[in-house]
Amino acid sequence: GKVRAPTHIISTISDDRGEEPCYAGVPMSSIIEQGYGVGDVISLLWFKRSLPRYCTHFIEICIMLCADHGPCVSGAHNTIVTARAGKDLVSSLVSGLLTIGPRFGGAIDDAARYFKDAYDRGLTPYEFVENMKKKGIRVPGIGHRIKRGDNRDKRVELLQRFARTHFPSVKYMEYAVQVETYTLSKANNLVLNVDGAIGSLFLDLLAGSGMFTKQEIDEIVEIGYLNGLFVLARSIGLIGHTFDQKRLKQPLYRHPWEDVLYTK
Ligand code: ACO
Ligand code: LMR
Repeated sequence: GKVRAPTHIISTISDDRGEEPCYAGVPMSSIIEQGYGVGDVISLLWFKRSLPRYCTHFIEICIMLCADHGPCVSGAHNTIVTARAGKDLVSSLVSGLLTIGPRFGGAIDDAARYFKDAYDRGLTPYEFVENMKKKGIRVPGIGHRIKRGDNRDKRVELLQRFARTHFPSVKYMEYAVQVETYTLSKANNLVLNVDGAIGSLFLDLLAGSGMFTKQEIDEIVEIGYLNGLFVLARSIGLIGHTFDQKRLKQPLYRHPWEDVLYTK
């Protein structure tokens, strides 16, 4: 028979060898002819399957809602400072992206991990939150610098409204809401944030779509696919901030002395 030399790379998501490139086996012409959107392309390249329209629409809503949140947040701030230092687009973009992590935008995977574990083990919100406190871990997906119980995050409300209308089940999201009710009783800034909303709702999407086995869901949560949604989305805004600073011909940024506490 044929002897095949071992390859150095294995790849399963795309193929450019034929007449036209394919994403997860779907040729580019079908993607265009069938009117696929960016949510479908994400489904093919990240999840290696076509997902139902309500799922790809939800992915697109996540991308749109997280694309930007003004110039003051960590990511945009870094990008603006870098662009004003005369750096190029890629440098300005990655400088902002590098702030995405456990406190800012990158709490989606951990929110999904902790909410799933707590819900699946049948913990009450009280038990979950108090256990986290004992371990000294902040609940990922809870808390915000400017949002409050009486000034909720509109993005969270929009995601919840879409899911309540289109998802077959929103059990993880309802659990996250119960956690929020408990944390809000402790402090007014401990709202369910956009990371927590996406993390819990993506669990509902994975479990409710019937497109993933239990093992596949565990793998997605374990590997941590979901921060990718924020990284991808916020890149749109960070690129915008770079162009904005260049267009405005902003000079090198220097932080004012008055805003620093010099102390020994
Ligand atoms: N779980 C439990 N307690 C919390 C949490 C939380 N998630 N967040 C704040 N607290 C409590 C703590 O008691 C904290 O005191 P500590 O510093 O002794 O732990 C107290 O509130 C005050 O916290 P601050 O640091 O003043 O809160 P801040 O406004 O700086 O933090 C932040 C906001 C970073 C979002 C925080 O709530 C947090 O770490 N949340 C978890 C991570 C997360 O979900 N990040 C995503 C935010 S949304 C986004 O970036 C798009
Ligand atoms: C964001 O999306 O960047 C925000 O939720 C963070 C913030 O502090 O506003």
